Formats: sequence, C-alpha cells, structure tokens
Amino acid sequence: MCGIVGHLGNQNAAGILLEGLKRLEYRGYDSSGLAVLQDGSLAVTKRVGRVKELIGAIKQAPVESTIGICHTRWATHGEVTEENAHPHLSSDGKITLVHNGVIENYNTLRSFLTSKGFSFSSETDTEVLCNLIAYHYAKEAETAEGSRFATSVRKALLHVEGTYGLAALCANCPDEMVGARHGSPLIQGVGREEILLASDVAALVSRTPDVVYMNDGELVHIVGNQFSLTTLDSEDIKPVINTVDWDVSEGELGDFEHYMLKEIFEQPTALENAMRGRFSQDGSTAKFGGLNITPQDLRQIDRILLCACGTAWHACLTMEFLIEKYARIPVEVEYASEFRYRNAPLDKNTLVMVVSQSGETIDTLAALRESKRKGYTTLAITNGVGSTIARESDGGIYQHAGPEVGVASTKAFTSQLMIGSILALYLGRLRDMSFNDGVEMVEGLKQIPSLVEKIVQLSEDIHRIAKKYVHKQDFLFLGRQSMFPIALEGALKLKEISYIHAEGYPAAEMKHGPIALISEDCPSLFIATEPDTLSKVVSNMQEVKARKGQLIVVRSESCTMPEGLADDEMVIPDCHPVAAPILASIPVQLLSYHIAVERGCDVDKPRNLAKSETVE
Ligand code: AGP
Repeated sequence: MCGIVGHLGNQNAAGILLEGLKRLEYRGYDSSGLAVLQDGSLAVTKRVGRVKELIGAIKQAPVESTIGICHTRWATHGEVTEENAHPHLSSDGKITLVHNGVIENYNTLRSFLTSKGFSFSSETDTEVLCNLIAYHYAKEAETAEGSRFATSVRKALLHVEGTYGLAALCANCPDEMVGARHGSPLIQGVGREEILLASDVAALVSRTPDVVYMNDGELVHIVGNQFSLTTLDSEDIKPVINTVDWDVSEGELGDFEHYMLKEIFEQPTALENAMRGRFSQDGSTAKFGGLNITPQDLRQIDRILLCACGTAWHACLTMEFLIEKYARIPVEVEYASEFRYRNAPLDKNTLVMVVSQSGETIDTLAALRESKRKGYTTLAITNGVGSTIARESDGGIYQHAGPEVGVASTKAFTSQLMIGSILALYLGRLRDMSFNDGVEMVEGLKQIPSLVEKIVQLSEDIHRIAKKYVHKQDFLFLGRQSMFPIALEGALKLKEISYIHAEGYPAAEMKHGPIALISEDCPSLFIATEPDTLSKVVSNMQEVKARKGQLIVVRSESCTMPEGLADDEMVIPDCHPVAAPILASIPVQLLSYHIAVERGCDVDKPRNLAKSETVE
C-alpha cells in the first residue's frame, strides 16, 4: 500500500529510484512520481497509471541529480489524479514529501495551515504534512542550517495523529534527506557511497545487502553518506545494521508471463524450503529454531488464538483444523482487524499466533501489539524476514517462500499451510501423538513437494477447463472439513484477479441458502478429497446437477465420481490427509489464474488491490 524509495549518493538518482520503485509496484499502482533536487530547486514529475508511465516521462524529460525521492501510490485520500500523486511539494516550494500511511487530523492541520497562508493543490493528507513541515522550516529560521530541516520534520510530526513512513527533501539542503516511521514500514539501505530509504527491502537489495529496519517513532537524518537515527524527541538511537540474504534474481519474472504463474510453479521449492531442517533426526517430530518458547511451556498452552487477514486468515482456518486434529489443542481464528477492537476474553495459557506473508499488514500488527500489551505470549508465522511483525513478536517461524510479487498470494499461502502442518505435528508430539503417527505424518509431509510438482504440470489441462467458464459472473466454491478454507481461498483468488463474484461455503451449508444461486450461469467448484465425507459431498453435487448447475470437481484419485456427474475434473494424487489442503489448493489457483488471463485481467496487479495493506 504505497511504496517509497529515497536515494542520496554520488550517482544519478533517477535510474536508481525508478529501479527500486519498479520492485515496489506491488504495493500500489494507481499513480507514481519522483522528485529530485536540481539546480537548487525541487523538480517533481508525476504520472497517473503504472510506474512505466513515470519511466517514460523521465526518459522524455531527464532529470540530473544525486538526491531524490519517489513513490508509487495506492489511493487513500482523493482520487487517482496527478495532483493527488506523490511527491507533494509545499506551496512555498521548499519541501517535497512522499508518504505511506494516513494523517488522521489532516483537516484540522489544513485549516491551520490555510490560515497561515499555505495553499493546497490536492485533496491529500500528505500535502498537508508537507506544508506543515514547510511551516516549521520557515519558523526555524534561527536554527543552524545543518539541523534546521530535520528539526522542522520532527516538530511537524509531533502535531500529527495517524501513521506514516515518509521521506522528505528540502530545496535549501542539497545533501540532506529525512525519513521517519510510525505505523508504516521504512527501511534504510546503507551502501558504500549512498544511503537509501524504502518501504521494503525489495527496493534496496540490488544496491546493498546492509539495511536498518526502522521502528515506530524513529527519525533518520541523512547528510551525505552519514546518517543519525533518533526518536522524535531527539534521543539518539544506535542503529542495528542487518545483512539481508536475498537473491535479486528470485524477484525476476524470468520466462513466465506473470508473477502469479511463476509463483504457482515455484511452490514445490517454496514448500521444500518451508520444511528444510525442521524435522527431528528420528523422523517423528519437528523442530523450530526461533519459537523462543520451551517445550515445557508449550505443553501448558490450553488454547491458541490465530489472527490474520485475507489469504493468511484462510491459512489460519486450515491450521485450526490441523492443530485441533493432530495436537488436540482448542484453536480460535479471528480476523486481525476485528480482534484489535474487540476485548476478547483470553486466559493466561492462551498462545496468540499471527500469520502474515508480508509481516507488515497493519491490522495483523495491531492484533499482535494488542496481545502483547495484554501480556500474552505471541508467535508469528511470516514470509517477511526482518518485517515489523517478525521483529515485534516473541518468537516465530519464517516461511522461507522467497519473494512473492503477485498481489494474489499463492506460494505464501501453501507455505503457511506447510508451516501450520509441521507445527501441528510438533505440538501433537509434545502431547498425545504416537511415535508411529508422527513418523507417518513426517513421511506424508515430505512427499508434498513432488506431488505438487505433478499437479502444476496440469496447468494446460486446467487452462482448457478455464476457457469454458470465462464468461460466468458468479461461482460457488464448496468443500468440507479441511477443504472448506480451501474453498474460501479459491473464491477469494477468483474474485480478486478475475472480478467474478465467488463465494466459498462448507458443501453441506449449500442447502441453507446458497443453493438459491444455482443456475446454468453459476458453476460450482467442489473439492472432494476426503473419503469419509465423499458420499455426502456427492449428494450435494447431485443437488447442483438437478438444478442445471455446472460442476467442476477437484478430487483425489481414489475419490471417484458417479459416471457423468462432473462436467470437469481436476484430479490430484492420493496423499496423507495432512497434505490434502496444500495439494487441493494448486488446481484452484491455476483455474483462477487461467480464467483471469482469458478475461484479459492484469493478474499481477488487480484493480483496487495492493499486496501489503499497511494502512487501516
Ligand atoms: C491475498 O491474495 C490477498 N491479496 C490478501 O488477502 C492478503 O492475503 C492479505 O492482505 C494479508 O496479507 P499478509 O499475509 O501480507 O498479512
């Protein structure tokens, strides 16, 4: 949700900034802009549309400077227009600002600034903050030039209510850049002859592996290739430089047409990486390096609360099923956005776990903070190494799925399911699960990558099926038990990338309402992989067929269908029950992908969405 890059060094900034911005485009892509300090004044270029529009504009009218900031926007305040795009420029031309977050008291501040003679050309909260910095800059005329700009940012932020990750330049300060963070991520890249700022390490790793993850309430003042980190109250902070282990080529598209397809095909590797080093030597249980909670303490846990948003919430629903089944610990799943405002009764033996691909989702972060504030032990499952959620939780498990660029989550989802399965095994073995059951489960988990490899090879067959359903406007996704979350995820995937209305339900719930939707125009996708409930699911399918509904079935090899019942089938291999949710997810992802591409949709950047929701 909005991407920021800033650069101060001794090379031309524009190319470096735009390369970084391309890598952050998944965060927002309705407009973008770039500002540099050129010949003593701030030159701002903005374009509506994708970053490539901005790149084209800079090619036509190149800018020359070693200092600059840029931004790709996901609109919060004001429509998608050039005026509302960032960077904003203060009305006195002194300050330019890029910002991710929401300034909640911007109306009050705007009235104040208008009374002081500042004017506005956009509807955004960011322009208000930009003018507020300029107001303080003018007021600080007496302050020595070396600290005047940073002081004015600091003073402005003390009057702000809301969230921000920001980078600012001042027309009078050719070798200074100021960044600050509260609630929205900001990371510094520390190169040999350059310092960068960005919302995500993805924008930095091609320049430097050395980064400083800023925390809320911190401000960085960069002067040349030196920087100082302080609190908003000017207390010095010793920066911790982390070295990021990130292969830049992992984030490249390669031979694939879309990141989403690439990431679907990367699942065997991502799942292998999620398992690597996590099984005990005797092959009957698991081990995790970073839980920071002893087996003794884990045995005392009598309830687990799982919090997440979107796809990660669906992963939590599957984890609930797995942990209750294999570890016999009661689990509850909450939308993080609801939990944070609800005073849910928890007792001291409750373990709170948050799940987030990015590790930056603001609602999930808020749920984590609220749980910590109440004194609960917190764990995080995240793909975001060094992310805010990873840093603020008491312990956690990294997914190691590699960068996920497509806005629609695929490999991160299945790797969360893998981590959840291994965790269920571990917790189960700490309690009642037998050695033999543990060994069998480990064997079942180890087979997953090769089985997934076989399923992704069905892509072209699934493509042929997809073509038959391209013009449908409604879809039902149905599954029972551990397949219900996969049905929900299937419906989310289809709607977010193809804009087809889709709903997920437990198959048996169909008769309590959704059956009213069934017609020739509303196909149903059933997931039938569990022999125990197969006969019931087949009855539900027959109810659909009786109402002229088309049937697409994802089934396991041994869950055979009555002749002629399914219109289309996608068959996955038989497997240990723990593996079934992961395996069943793959055909559902591929079907959504191919339908969306056939409809001409931009699957990697679906309308109105952003990969990482860092504002509420
Ligand atoms: C996934 O396809 C979605 N775009 C979205 O629901 C996402 O899962 C959600 O915003 C949570 O993100 P996180 O895992 O990074 O916290």
